[in-house]
Amino acid sequence: MTMTAIQAGHGAAEAAGIHHPGIVNLIYLVAAVCFIWTFKLLAHPRTAVRGNLLGMLGMALAIGITLMDRGITSYTLIAVGLILGAGAGLFMALTVPMTSMPQMVGVLNGFGGGASFLVAWAELLRVAGAAPGPGLQFMVATALSGIIGGVTFSGSAVAADKLQEWLLPSKPIWFPRQQLINAALAAVVAVLAWLLITHPTWTAIYFLLVVLSLVLGVLLVIPIGGADMPVVICLLNSYSGLAAAATGFVLNNNMLVIAGSLVGASGLILTKIMCKAMNRSMTNVVFGRFGGDTSGPSADDVYRTVKASSPEEVAMLFDNAQRVVIIPGYGMAVSQCQHAVRDLTNLLESKGVEVLFGIHPVAGRMPGHMNVLLAEANIAYDKMKEMDEVNSLLEQTDVAIVLGANDTVNPIARTDPKSPIAGMPIIDADKARTVVVIKRSLSPGFAGIPNPLFAADNCLMLFGDGKKALVDLIAAVKEG
Ligand code: TAP
Repeated sequence: MTMTAIQAGHGAAEAAGIHHPGIVNLIYLVAAVCFIWTFKLLAHPRTAVRGNLLGMLGMALAIGITLMDRGITSYTLIAVGLILGAGAGLFMALTVPMTSMPQMVGVLNGFGGGASFLVAWAELLRVAGAAPGPGLQFMVATALSGIIGGVTFSGSAVAADKLQEWLLPSKPIWFPRQQLINAALAAVVAVLAWLLITHPTWTAIYFLLVVLSLVLGVLLVIPIGGADMPVVICLLNSYSGLAAAATGFVLNNNMLVIAGSLVGASGLILTKIMCKAMNRSMTNVVFGRFGGDTSGPSADDVYRTVKASSPEEVAMLFDNAQRVVIIPGYGMAVSQCQHAVRDLTNLLESKGVEVLFGIHPVAGRMPGHMNVLLAEANIAYDKMKEMDEVNSLLEQTDVAIVLGANDTVNPIARTDPKSPIAGMPIIDADKARTVVVIKRSLSPGFAGIPNPLFAADNCLMLFGDGKKALVDLIAAVKEG
């Protein structure tokens, strides 16, 4: 919405307001500094709220000066857009559960891409018909806006749909000669872009370019599935920034160029971090067949020696424990049991037990998911250990509590090269003296494969919803 407002501002005819480019660019520069500083503050949970506020201030400055800069002929349309967009945003923010955040981010990325190619289109129609006509920079930027914006829009829609499983399944969809068809389509798109750049008045080509880019976006994302979806969402986030930056060049708007580049670069960095966390290359994510092969030992074979336990039995494990490591996963988010986790932590600490948390970089369904939930329950940041650090402590840990985590503690990633999660670094919960797994059943996690940890000699299953199981466990510890 904010980007649309900026763009709408610039698309309008000059009538009134601030016309001094020096002042406008100075305020844009202040806004850009706010955005960059925001990234620094967002990097730590303690300063993240301040970071968000600074980002909002930067965006308010950017929108405010843009609305005053170009002399808007009618504010009514912008006001209607703002009200509709803010209303939709507010509704989504209030109703979408935390577990569906990746889908929501996907939808928002798509809107960014869509806004970019629509604004570039409107500007092309305006400039192409007027003297002296568009220049080379304008045409290259317009073509890029159409391609990247189109791919982002449809790719994000497909990614969000696959995550939510409305129309498409979350698993990869393959058909014969898919890569070849994608390559041919990409080549046609490139030729169309060249035609548009060299013949700026053939504006109908832009329409065709966008339509084919939309198809390309769909074809690029449908073969991706399983645990790769979060990486794709980050990549599309980066694309939405690049599309906005290209539109910034179309409109000659420095703010949009800077903001778009920041989103593009940060999205790429996050994509790279997530690829590293899953031990995958970016090419492999985009063109590989990850997450599709769920063949392997059947759940019945793997789970022959599973041992179910009770809150009382688990409570006894804490009697002589010196260190307990809690490894949260997606199930903690589903059962919203972070406050019960804090209560158990406080209780164990009051008995002299050291309690730490092992946070896997892709635990849950969005980057930082577990940190956000634990911080919400006021769990101290210094107790949250990253994967490498906690792995070095697990052999000297008495009890590892795996709370609604599955793929991120699945030892098969280390041992089975054919597994869909082969090579993904995991939290080595199996190396603790005793492992307690809290989950409702033996159902698989996101990657859809059985987990031999649950049947390991040192593992006890405490079946139940995360919150209920923790409340019962706390009661048992108090009684014990
Ligand atoms: P998962 O492997 O997805 O496993 C979650 C487990 O939580 C399930 O096995 C489920 O078992 C259990 N669960 C669900 N509801 C529960 C409840 N109310 N109480 C207790 N347990 C419950 O989780 P993970 O270890 O966090 O791994 C994350 C996976 O998602 C990875 O494969 C990752 O690649 C992928 N992914 C990550 C992201 C990001 S960015 N973090 C985004 C999308 C996907 P039951 O049904 O038996 O209870």
